[in-house]
Amino acid sequence: MKTINKIDYKRIIIVAYRLPFRLIKKKNKHMAVQNSGGLVSAILSLSERMNQDKVVKSKILWVGTGDSNLGEENINPSFDLFPVEIPKKINDKYYSGYCNNVIWPLFHYFPQSTVFDNKYFEAYKEANNLFYKKLQNIIRPGDFIWIHDYHLFLLPDMIRQSYPDTNIGFFLHIPFPSFELFRLFPRQWREAILTGMTGADIIGFHTNDYTQHFLKSIKRTLGYKTDQNHIYSDTRIFKADSFPLGIDFDKFHTACSSGKTRNQRKKLQKHLADNKLIFSVDRLDYSKGFIKRLEAYDHFLEKFPNWHYKVVFNMIVIPSRDNIESYREIKKEIEATVGRINGKYSNLSWRPVIYQYKSVPFNELVALYDHSDVGLITPLRDGMNLVAKEYIASQYESSGMLVLSEMAGAAVELTEAIIINPNDIEETSVAIDKALSMSLEEKRRKISKMQDRLKRYNVFTWATDFFNQVYEVRNEQKKLQVEFLNSDTLESIKTRYQKSQKRLFLIDYDGTLTPIAALPEMALLNKKTESQLKSIASDKRNTVAIISGREQKFIEDQFKKLDVILVAEHGFFIKYPGGNWSINIELDLSWKEKILPVLDHYVDRCNGSMIEEKYASIVWHYRNVDEDTASMRINELKDDLTEIIKSESNLLMLEGDKVLEVKSMLYDKGTAGSSLISKENYDFILAIGDDRTDEDLFKIMPESGISIKVGSEPSKALYNIKDQAQIYEILALFLS
Ligand code: UDP
Ligand code: G6P
Repeated sequence: MKTINKIDYKRIIIVAYRLPFRLIKKKNKHMAVQNSGGLVSAILSLSERMNQDKVVKSKILWVGTGDSNLGEENINPSFDLFPVEIPKKINDKYYSGYCNNVIWPLFHYFPQSTVFDNKYFEAYKEANNLFYKKLQNIIRPGDFIWIHDYHLFLLPDMIRQSYPDTNIGFFLHIPFPSFELFRLFPRQWREAILTGMTGADIIGFHTNDYTQHFLKSIKRTLGYKTDQNHIYSDTRIFKADSFPLGIDFDKFHTACSSGKTRNQRKKLQKHLADNKLIFSVDRLDYSKGFIKRLEAYDHFLEKFPNWHYKVVFNMIVIPSRDNIESYREIKKEIEATVGRINGKYSNLSWRPVIYQYKSVPFNELVALYDHSDVGLITPLRDGMNLVAKEYIASQYESSGMLVLSEMAGAAVELTEAIIINPNDIEETSVAIDKALSMSLEEKRRKISKMQDRLKRYNVFTWATDFFNQVYEVRNEQKKLQVEFLNSDTLESIKTRYQKSQKRLFLIDYDGTLTPIAALPEMALLNKKTESQLKSIASDKRNTVAIISGREQKFIEDQFKKLDVILVAEHGFFIKYPGGNWSINIELDLSWKEKILPVLDHYVDRCNGSMIEEKYASIVWHYRNVDEDTASMRINELKDDLTEIIKSESNLLMLEGDKVLEVKSMLYDKGTAGSSLISKENYDFILAIGDDRTDEDLFKIMPESGISIKVGSEPSKALYNIKDQAQIYEILALFLS
């Protein structure tokens, strides 16, 4: 097991809707039975193995719904169980209602089955709150709280509000849908779900697609800025990323050769005689694609009659959620379809489908995986699908082949399987024939590649990766921690200034020296700031540089009465007092012709927006566009520009406050700042700015420098001030 090298959490609290076991009574005694589903399988393997190997010393606590006796029974030494009680009246509307009749169908691309009932949402909030209340009695400083799945979207933020310094991870085991689907939810639900999730330090998904869908929803719904996978809210930085859930490979692989499994295989061999075996196992769920699978099998039998009397399809359906109407319906439909196919082809000696509605004990499951010639795993949508991975891990002799739906998260990793579209009955039926006819040599080659991958990225690597990323992001948060300037720090800056002999000021313009105005041309330098700057610049020991994203002319007009260095267009142009403008870097600017028409198009589509064409860059301004339209258009525009930018070298999109700028990445405020800093041996350097572009400047500041961010967002600057008006107080420190 790979060590979890960067963390040392004393306790890991796993929070999921269900505890991993339920109690059943047998001969007046309680017996614990494992609950079904991928989440329980994965986390259970993980906790047991962590406990066995003792590599991780963390104590594991598991919080979830379940029999109240579960807390007292010593079922599993690997962890302590903490049952949460949800009154039946709430639970019906919460679990059957909001979780499984609202979120589950929409997130699995079944909008027509989604029930938009606000009473369900109210129960969802209440139930999340009950989890929160339970946790209040459990959480201790230093704990790592790991929240799982769609039942608990609101919980991370509930915890964050009362325990701001706690380590919180959230992992979603189902797909996160595209924004076009997610936006079908009422705005109130959307905002609550996303705000709830953003209480976590890391939000994990199975695939990169789900992560991207989530990021897009965050940008469009909450308007948060993102930078690759990092997300910036007003007060925090956190991360969304993909962590494809793995399995305990060795557990399945070694079980193939155990005595119990061999016995099961013998039984199977006896029943099957010379028939080839096609196998599937899934929880009862309309997302698993049972009907399409059966139709494809029917079509296969029609198209390839040579397989009659030679093949059997064993379809096992694990009972699940059968108190929900849509699940009962799909069960009836499965049974009718199986009956129809068997009626169509069976005779006294052959039945093409063996359907079982039951749970399967572990060794029987492994024997079935290992013995079957084809694993037919064809969900219409599936977050990951662990069965597909377990099937591959259980190929001891590599004599089976997997037919896998491209709609399962697992298809991203299991690329050597025969990948099909589950809606395409023709394609699936051909795939079944291909899998049955594939040479042993080809199967071995493909299985071995997939097994190598599953061995490497298993459930332990998955968890390690997750824990380590939480550790990393917590460190980043510390670096970006907001520390507001107070009277003590102001005083110490003043003292350092007074003791110094050679000072450099690097000051941004918009949002720093002037407030942001409705029209850029209205953001003029006021008299008070002008006179403060004049006084500072008149001291021979001081060099003042205004580093702006603005064009030369505007900035020159504002500062014509002052002896200051002017840097325009984010560092492209520079002008020393009394001198002329000069270019800092030679660039080919022919790319502008490609970008301009795209921006023109967006000005037409987005009333109130405008283009500012500078010498070396182009800016799209949207400060006068309403929030909703702006957040929608900006993301569309970014999608469009990304395509063009990919084909041009060294271009980037720069997001500022209500602006999107396209420019070369070969210069920025940081390169301009560095070159000024290197000109003299300064013993006092101060940088002030409010925008994302000023972060480039803060980044290059020497250790002894002082940097101040205007605004309360996380920043690389040493200090923050709450608003622009405080600039007078800062400049006043340096007046003679
Ligand atoms: N499984 C189970 N009970 C059974 C047979 C299988 O719990 O009777 C397990 C199976 O081994 C797998 C999990 O259920 O680990 C199903 O996970 P998957 O990701 O395929 O689908 P989910 O149920 O999470 O939608
Ligand atoms: C999926 C979900 C899990 C859930 C499991 C079984 O794997 O991602 O959160 O536990 O199905 O469903 P159930 O409703 O019985 O818990």
